[in-house]
Amino acid sequence: MFGGYTSGPRVVAAETAPEETLAENGKIIRRRRGLSGDFMMDGAETRSHFLHAYFREQDQKRGVYAVTAVGEFVPCSLTYLEHGMTHFLSRYPAARKFLFLDAGSGDGRVVFLLSVVFGLRAVGVEYDEQLHVRAMDNMASILRRYPASPPPTLLCGDFLDESLYRNHGLRFADFHVVFNYANNHTQLAEKVMRDGGQGAYFLLYTPRPTGERFPSLQDVSSLCLAPEPRTATGPYLQIYRRVPTESGSA
Ligand SMILES: C[S@@+](CC[C@H](N)C(=O)[O-])C[C@H]1O[C@@H](n2cnc3c(N)ncnc32)[C@H](O)[C@@H]1O
Repeated sequence: MFGGYTSGPRVVAAETAPEETLAENGKIIRRRRGLSGDFMMDGAETRSHFLHAYFREQDQKRGVYAVTAVGEFVPCSLTYLEHGMTHFLSRYPAARKFLFLDAGSGDGRVVFLLSVVFGLRAVGVEYDEQLHVRAMDNMASILRRYPASPPPTLLCGDFLDESLYRNHGLRFADFHVVFNYANNHTQLAEKVMRDGGQGAYFLLYTPRPTGERFPSLQDVSSLCLAPEPRTATGPYLQIYRRVPTESGSA
């Protein structure tokens, strides 16, 4: 878990204000205030504030760390991920129609961010049953306030297990974007290479840049989501893409 890092996972407080800078491969690329752009939903800012406040309260009640049978639950920073997704969607506008997977979805917050704030189709898979139940409870509370259409899907099981997707009328190859917060990501990258859709993106959120390379996955870019990319050390969103093959399969 979090292999290759010398220190433990860095938890960034969800209440941190949205930042204005972003760096891609070390180069400052963007200044941004709040949420904007064609890819955002109407009322995205209000929804975002609600989600941040909701999970701030959850974090205070339940804490932000748990060991699971297959890894560690540490939620990502909604603020930073929102920043990274805003960039991703502005760079790849076609992604608005994509199907997203949060592989290892914990309490579901990434799935809700994608669905409720960005209006994307999103699925989460979490192995830990208690976390899955917590995510379902969160979904009921959040969608009561902000119904999503279509609503996100939350599955309990192993994200490496193809039968899990099949049993819910899906295939791993259906996902255009596979997101993971550094939990069993090497096996997941292998699954993207083996079973992923043509040109599928693999987004790896990490406290530090890992610089990892995966065969058959193109290393597209590495975004530093920190407020001061020149001096800060993360978190990072590393973007990979499954290399399309001429035959249509890898
Ligand atoms: C670091 S947490 C991230 C949670 C969430 N994605 C987020 O960013 O807030 C990683 C989660 O992945 C889950 N996980 C790890 N390996 C898994 C697997 N093979 N199948 C399903 N869930 C897995 C862990 O149980 C843990 O809850």
